[in-house]
Amino acid sequence: MSTDSIDSLLTENRRFAPDPAFVADAVATPELYREAADDRLAFWERQARELVSWHVPFTEVLDWTNAPVARWFGDGRLNVAYNCLDRHVDAGNGDRVAFHWEGEPGDTRTITYAELTAEVKRAANALAALGVGQGDRVAIYLPLVPEAVVAMLAVARLGAVHSVVFGGFSAESIRSRVDDAQAKVVITADGGWRKGRVFPLKPAVDAALAGATSVTDVLVVRRGENEVEWVHGRDHWWHDALDAADPEHEAQGFEAENPLFILYTSGTTGKPKGILHTSGGYLTQVAYTHKNVFDLHPETDVFWCTADVGWITGHSYVVYGPLANGATQVLYEGTPDTPHPGRWWEIVEKYGVSIFYSAPTAIRSAMKLGRQIPQGFDLSSIRLLGSVGEPINPEAWIWYRDIIGAGTAPVEDTWWQTETGAIMIAALPGITTLKPGSAQTALPGIRVDILDENGGRVAPPRGGLLAVTEPWPSMLRGIWGDHARFVETYWSKFSDPDAGRWIYFAGDGAHVDADGDITLLGRVDDVMNVAGHRLSTQEIESALVSHPIVAEAAVVGASDEMSGQAVVAYAIVKERHRAEHSDAEFETVLKQHVASEIGAIARPRQIYFVSELPKTRSGKIMRRLLRDVAEGRPIGDTTTLADPAVMKLIEDLSGSPATTSITTTVPTRKT
Ligand code: WTA
Repeated sequence: MSTDSIDSLLTENRRFAPDPAFVADAVATPELYREAADDRLAFWERQARELVSWHVPFTEVLDWTNAPVARWFGDGRLNVAYNCLDRHVDAGNGDRVAFHWEGEPGDTRTITYAELTAEVKRAANALAALGVGQGDRVAIYLPLVPEAVVAMLAVARLGAVHSVVFGGFSAESIRSRVDDAQAKVVITADGGWRKGRVFPLKPAVDAALAGATSVTDVLVVRRGENEVEWVHGRDHWWHDALDAADPEHEAQGFEAENPLFILYTSGTTGKPKGILHTSGGYLTQVAYTHKNVFDLHPETDVFWCTADVGWITGHSYVVYGPLANGATQVLYEGTPDTPHPGRWWEIVEKYGVSIFYSAPTAIRSAMKLGRQIPQGFDLSSIRLLGSVGEPINPEAWIWYRDIIGAGTAPVEDTWWQTETGAIMIAALPGITTLKPGSAQTALPGIRVDILDENGGRVAPPRGGLLAVTEPWPSMLRGIWGDHARFVETYWSKFSDPDAGRWIYFAGDGAHVDADGDITLLGRVDDVMNVAGHRLSTQEIESALVSHPIVAEAAVVGASDEMSGQAVVAYAIVKERHRAEHSDAEFETVLKQHVASEIGAIARPRQIYFVSELPKTRSGKIMRRLLRDVAEGRPIGDTTTLADPAVMKLIEDLSGSPATTSITTTVPTRKT
């Protein structure tokens, strides 16, 4: 979307002032903005004291002397799992439902805070019996079953560090994450339910752990009831281990900066980076944002975040934020369209979901299926909607509010990242007049700016690069095992260490309008955003060239009406293999190869076979031009190409922009 068109787009659209009935009862008040503006650190200090229970209270709020590695509430001690469990039981809320869990085949479990606490205690003892203690890493590779949450909290309770690997990732991806973090234990399942059938998980773990690894034990949750191979001595059934474990476990306090988890995310190079989060600051900000952005009334609300715990959204808004706040949630194992396209709406009706948090891709898919599907269910319980993961176009925003939110629910577009740990930019319900398509303003306590290439603040209305100018409690504390990459990726573009100026570069383009409202424009680096999932062009290129037939490959994220972006690849087949198969056969083989190297989410939508790739004289692939071709646009400036004739060849191969099938099948998004 060009930045010039944004102002006209926003003014064309409606604005939505807060409903007076909502304001009367709203959790957030304008006082929050005033308080944070007056004294940011005092503001965070209050949040940390009110939202978190400390084993040993902190006296120091922020230590930034070792920037860009922050220490928040550094001399305090806490147990994150205790904060999510025992304290609610101790406060007399043990009977409150923590999760209404719904399996894809329709089986259900209702789990109260008391039950969840009891299960986590046993799981913590079972892990401790395997030698897991403070600082040890545990990899978790599970479907969206309650045990996924139990496993994360049990690891946290021991002061150990979890690394959740999304259940759709491949054996290769598990292996690289286990190796990088030197995990001691893996928690997996036989299989899980997805799209009406059991998909096996354990074989991927078995393949990942073949050969020497750091892993000594594997705990296996029984879910799919599918046959599994067993490595005696290494593998243990989760239920046996929990049955044998002591039911009592007292949570010990760990220092506020004790690592809580590593979560791998795609960056601009081939190797995913392990984003490190710690305890006290993270818990403070996820609890604060969950309460205020979603207007949480824990006694009456039913919150449903549709994310999998394999992503940061699931960490922060399925596990830590909602449980710290004592919320009642829905957790659903399967896909939105199984066994029928109204499954999500059926679940909303069944459990009376009042706050619903999902991704634009899902909303656009629902829009495409038609309003009659959600309108077949009673969605009157919904009073607030959230969106995350990618820019939400105004059409989808308005449809979401009108059809899912009965035309009255505030729509909270929330911008944040794996690295930021918690929501950073969002309207506050009951306070902000909403603008469809814009994430709007930094939350109280958060300072952001839109900068030009040289680090100067742009004069609104203008586009630029999104930067965070002050440290925040849930900020990443590093990239696991790679401090240099951490500094280089996030802190080298705008910071001036000699002047003590540290500015976080988010990697997103953004536009700021005359009201100071921020609209996100997408990544400015080689990270793609496919259906709200981050993928690196280079990671997929590496997967493609790891196949013996491929000499070279280039990958771009092309605009896609449904998923925001789609993976489009260009590959050069080695001369000696060219006659072996047709392009269509090569395409099938390579799509499958990428899926097995990384995971199905990385499978390219299209692969074009070319004889050369467009490169600059210094040998850098010009992805911008390949994106033009993939999106059916006229080719941009080719003057820096080493050989401009290459683009002509590629263009001819995929048809001229005006007539190509790419143009007709892949309309460019309007926004
Ligand atoms: C994008 C997901 C526009 C952005 C929580 C960011 C968004 C990346 C929004 C992080 C939003 C996330 N509007 N873009 N509301 N939320 N993004 O790490 O490009 O999976 O940098 O974290 O998603 O993706 P991640």
